[in-house]
Amino acid sequence: MTEKKTVLGLVGSPNPDGLTNQLVTAALDGAQENGATIEKLQMSEYVVDPCQDCLPWTCLQTLECKYNDENFEFLNEKILDCSALILGTPVYWWDTSAMVKYLILKMFRVFAMSGPLNGLPALGLAIAGGSGTGLVSGLKPVYHFFQIMRMRAIDPVPATRFDFDKALSKAMEQGRQIGKMSESRERFDSWEECLLRYDSLRYIGDDNASEIRLVAELAAEAVESERKCDISGDLAHADHLATSGKVLESMTETLKVYQSSAGLFGKQQ
Ligand SMILES: Cc1cc2nc3c(=O)[nH]c(=O)nc-3n(C[C@H](O)[C@H](O)[C@H](O)COP(=O)(O)O)c2cc1C
Repeated sequence: MTEKKTVLGLVGSPNPDGLTNQLVTAALDGAQENGATIEKLQMSEYVVDPCQDCLPWTCLQTLECKYNDENFEFLNEKILDCSALILGTPVYWWDTSAMVKYLILKMFRVFAMSGPLNGLPALGLAIAGGSGTGLVSGLKPVYHFFQIMRMRAIDPVPATRFDFDKALSKAMEQGRQIGKMSESRERFDSWEECLLRYDSLRYIGDDNASEIRLVAELAAEAVESERKCDISGDLAHADHLATSGKVLESMTETLKVYQSSAGLFGKQQ
């Protein structure tokens, strides 16, 4: 009988009880519902040291960092051994947390050229739990990691406090898909095939205007219906401006919607 492998969930936040943890837990619950064995790790307990970019590039051949970094050794063994990866990060200044970035950069240096993770099912989750801005930008480094390592990623879950409950449901739904995919690994036959998969994923190719549009929409949706009339600006008008080529005016209008909605949402809390 073959050993049942594990869907691994990494919580990339210094706060083990925070929103990142909730998202990763929801995704793992979904995977478990679909029959997967799961394991959750708090990255704050295993913070990796920065890659030293040492030369000669020996880890390329040995597949081991030559510096003593027990946390990296522990995490990379877990990742290399799992049947699917769920990686959650808090959004810090439109980016990942530092602990996630350190892991990614070291994984690149040691493993990117040999491709041991080709086809590994992967899901990225990000919580922009403050202003909500950067909800997509924070996911991009995570998906860049998945792409360079040729993992078989599925659509990410960008989350904000405006839509957190919906994001938890979405994380669970994506987790179910990951649970199913974890039963067998489908490797990419070529780099081109891998690149095209990443082009087809939601959000990852979004530009700044789309990202601002998304957070404005989420904030506006979160405003109680009786207060929606107090939202200034109009997303339909912003869209019309964008299609007429007035992209700067469009973004200004979108930001008006975002700022007034975020203000109204804040008063609801
Ligand atoms: C250094 C730093 C930068 C942050 N930058 C952003 C940001 O760009 N956008 C945002 O919405 N929230 C931002 N936040 C808020 C976090 O995303 C929010 O607190 C999130 O809930 C943290 O995840 P956790 O609950 O798992 O700790 C930032 C927080 C810190 C500490």
